[in-house]
Formats: sequence, structure tokens, C-alpha cells
Amino acid sequence: MGKFEVLDHPLIQHKLTLIRDKNVGTKFFRETVNEISTLMGYEVSRDMPLEDVEVETPIQTTVKKQLAGKKVAIIPILRAGLGMVDGILELIPAAKVGHIGMYRDEETLKPHEYFVKLPSDIDQRQLFVVDPMLATGGSAIMAIDALKKRGATNIKFVCLVAAPEGVKALQEAHPDIDIYTAALDEKLNEDGYIVPGLGDAGDRLFGTK
Ligand code: PRP
Ligand code: URA
Repeated sequence: MGKFEVLDHPLIQHKLTLIRDKNVGTKFFRETVNEISTLMGYEVSRDMPLEDVEVETPIQTTVKKQLAGKKVAIIPILRAGLGMVDGILELIPAAKVGHIGMYRDEETLKPHEYFVKLPSDIDQRQLFVVDPMLATGGSAIMAIDALKKRGATNIKFVCLVAAPEGVKALQEAHPDIDIYTAALDEKLNEDGYIVPGLGDAGDRLFGTK
């Protein structure tokens, strides 16, 4: 079974509480999601492999560590996942970015895939699939199905708020992947929204509704 971690660094908790507030506007919401994503990016990249490299300091030559060849791709699930991309790119600027378009039917809560555009070598990359919300888990499961169908093997899923129902469904469907969230909330309501959650992440990021 892959890891399941709640990344509850005080700065992450504080910033997440700020954007749960229904009164904060789009600009603040977007900027804060970006900041939280950078903080989470730092944590989720903790086990990136290192290798030895020789470096000549002004004093002497020495052998120190650098990131090994494992290449990274960030895969936002559209739309809301887009809000998490730039924050992680701040730390891993050479990462490629692939996109998976997915929307939830508001009646059935079933996800529908509408767009997939990925780097050609995703089978050789460490993938960070990002989406602020893991609710029923349907969107994440279908997005990861789409990645695996195209050869991806090394996948971490990163979200801001998860419902227990979504974590369970994702672990059952894809037991090999690691799941990171900034918060594990209480439950889903009858409309499939996370309680207490932060509402509709896509609408809050982009100012739609
Ligand atoms: C939201 C969210 C996830 C999905 C989570 O997207 O960003 O992708 O719902 O729900 P699930 O775990 O039950 O599948 P939404 O369908 O609202 O699309 P949007 O990002 O384009 O607004
Ligand atoms: N999608 C969202 O954006 N928010 C939720 O609470 C559930 C699904």
C-alpha cells in the first residue's frame, strides 16, 4: 500500500484555514492555494533520489549530492488542479506539465474525461497529480487510470482537502500510489461536497459560478 500522509505543517494549516473562509475573494484564494502548493511541494519531494557529484569549491574539490536523473511531471486535473501547478514549479522549475480535463456530473457525481495532453515520456517520470479536492475520489481514480493506461508507474496524488470516502476509494483503486493531503475532513454531504471543506475549488479559484 502506498503512503497516506496529512501534511499538517503549521503554515499549511494556517493558510488552509484562511481559504476555507467563504468571504475571501478570488485573488486571495488563488494566491494562497499557490503558497500552500509550494509548501506541500517541499514535503512531497522529500524522497526524491540523490546521487553523488564532484564539485570544486573555492577551497577544494569535494563530493556532494545532487538530484538524480529522475525527471518530474506535474499533472493538474482541470480545472482546479491548475491552481496548484505554479506553486510546485517554484521548487521544481524544470518539471514538465501534463493536463487531464475532468468534470463531475453534478447529478450522478461521476467524472467525465474531456482532455488529456501529457509529456511523451511519462513512463520515465515521477508524476505529481494535483487537484485541490478529493471528494468521492472518482476524478482522481479516472485521472490515474488515464495515466497508467499510458505507461505511468510512479505516481503521487497531492490535494488540499480530502474526504475519508475519497481516500478509501482511491487507495482501493490504486493501492500503489502515495496520497498527500493538507487536511482530512469529516465527510461528504448529500451533494458530494466535502464537509466542512472549502466549497467548489474550481469556482473559487477562477471566480465562476
Ligand atoms: C472538482 C475537484 C475535483 C473533483 C473532486 O472538480 O477539483 O476534480 O471535483 O470530486 P470527486 O473526488 O468526487 O471526483 P469539478 O468536477 O468541480 O471540476 P472543475 O475543477 O472544472 O470545477
Ligand atoms: N469538488 C469541489 O470543488 N469541492 C468539493 O467539496 C467536492 C468536489
